[in-house]
Amino acid sequence: MAYVSIVSSEKGGQGKSSILLQMAGYAGKTKKVLCLELDIQKNLTLILQNTEPRYTIYDVLNSSVSTKEAIMPSVFKGIDYIPGSRKLKGMNVDTTRLTSILDEVQSEYDLIFIDCPANINSLVESAYTMADLVITPMEMELFALSNVTELIETVQSHNSRAEIVLVPNKVGGRSKLNRTVREHLDEMVKHYDNVKIGTELPSSIIISNLLSEGKLLINAMRFNPLKDKLKELYKELYK
Ligand SMILES: Nc1ncnc2c1ncn2[C@@H]1O[C@H](COP(=O)(O)OP(=O)(O)O)[C@@H](O)[C@H]1O
Ligand SMILES: [Mg+2]
Repeated sequence: MAYVSIVSSEKGGQGKSSILLQMAGYAGKTKKVLCLELDIQKNLTLILQNTEPRYTIYDVLNSSVSTKEAIMPSVFKGIDYIPGSRKLKGMNVDTTRLTSILDEVQSEYDLIFIDCPANINSLVESAYTMADLVITPMEMELFALSNVTELIETVQSHNSRAEIVLVPNKVGGRSKLNRTVREHLDEMVKHYDNVKIGTELPSSIIISNLLSEGKLLINAMRFNPLKDKLKELYKELYK
């Protein structure tokens, strides 16, 4: 049975798609990985795609094609994916369909990653019910805490067994604001079961520079502090 990770936050630009890609790319070297995109912005799909996909998650959700027909090999080793679609916007989907999609493919993969949009809609809530792990990247900003509290409560109202890992991202070590938010975060997580803070990830522009060349930092040869922390996070989450 595949281990299901949902990457979700209530804000855009926190690093969801980036962290998902790095974790999936590292896993793909030794494991069978499936990525699924629920974000209509299709950032993940655009990076993973080899050729223009014929079918998307939209077609699978409205049962026009089978799940297996929509699965495509990605440009990265060991990673298959189900393409995202702009048509999900405003689509009234039978969200239980998402559950059966995962049921159909769970025996064929070791890890399944689901990339979510920043707005938590019924499809995302349906994904939560299937999660073994919810990864929530967050920048250490003033309003981060209230967003995260709300997300934890939403996840836990749908799934009490999922582990939630908050990942401080783009952290600048010397910033007083970062440290203050971190202290509040440490205090906040004590009030919840199954919630912990993962490895802090520093900011490094190399992550996006390499991606623009179709490369993943976590698999790159070069020395970089963010790369080391991404590996540390991977080991923490998946061993
Ligand atoms: N640790 C990091 N250091 C520097 N830039 C980062 C880091 N993590 C993400 N980014 C950049 O931040 C932007 C938003 O990240 P993205 O993964 O698209 O966020 P989301 O999926 O949450 O909207 C992207 O340009 C990405 O390259
Ligand atoms: Mg994204």
